[in-house]
Amino acid sequence: MVARWNDVDHLRRRVAEFKGQIAAIVCEPAMCNTCCIEPGEGMLETIRELCDQEDMLMIADETITGFRFGPGGAQSYYGVHPDLTVFGKAIGGGTPFAALAGTRAAMAKIISGESMHAGTLNANPLCLAASRWCLDQVIERGAESPAKLNRLGQKLMAGLRALADEHDVPLRPQGPGLAFHSLMVKPGADERPVQNYRDYAELQDVPRWTHLRLCLLEEGVRAIERGLWSISFAHTETDIDEALERCAVAFKRHAEGWPEA
Ligand SMILES: Cc1ncc(COP(=O)(O)O)c(C=O)c1O
Repeated sequence: MVARWNDVDHLRRRVAEFKGQIAAIVCEPAMCNTCCIEPGEGMLETIRELCDQEDMLMIADETITGFRFGPGGAQSYYGVHPDLTVFGKAIGGGTPFAALAGTRAAMAKIISGESMHAGTLNANPLCLAASRWCLDQVIERGAESPAKLNRLGQKLMAGLRALADEHDVPLRPQGPGLAFHSLMVKPGADERPVQNYRDYAELQDVPRWTHLRLCLLEEGVRAIERGLWSISFAHTETDIDEALERCAVAFKRHAEGWPEA
């Protein structure tokens, strides 16, 4: 069952409607795959509150956000405590590796063996070694790392927005910075804040974004298809400056070539 992101009243209604039938509420703490929508005021707190009240598990999908948002992941960044968390990408340091973490209570049946957690590639030594190296890097950079990545990302977002304004392109970067989404607004659409995937589906001009993305690609800037950008520890100020120089050429080409003949 789907509840609307950033609509606390809707979530409360859904939980009441299906009272006693919901085992868990699953969410990304910040919706990185869908326009990089951060949790609005009270969203994560309400999920936690309802889970405690109704004996449901709160499951955080930190496949993207852990450990981009710092050593404690997005749950520490936003100050929320899920029962279970799944990690994917960064935790493997580039190797194919994922993990399930949780409170002792939520993991009890796996720990006791009552619930079996088997798999050919579980605890693969190579991936664990890579993961350990990667997590050591994250820990070494400490709790300040998201702020640093946000600063770099916000510089890139501001630069993209300035280029968009200069060329009259309705591109609106949104997100905290360390991850953000470049929303291309459809002609005539009102520019309301994107609060959930419905807003996003209504507002995103996919053909125009695709055109700009291909122009960016020709200049050596690979923005991923769905429009999510992320900053990593490897990025420097110089990389951002270079990316923006390349973006400037791409925006000019896009503005000249859009709409396509
Ligand atoms: C937020 C999020 N959750 C889950 C997944 C799926 O992960 P996997 O491919 O390991 O099943 C992805 C994959 O990109 C993701 O971005």
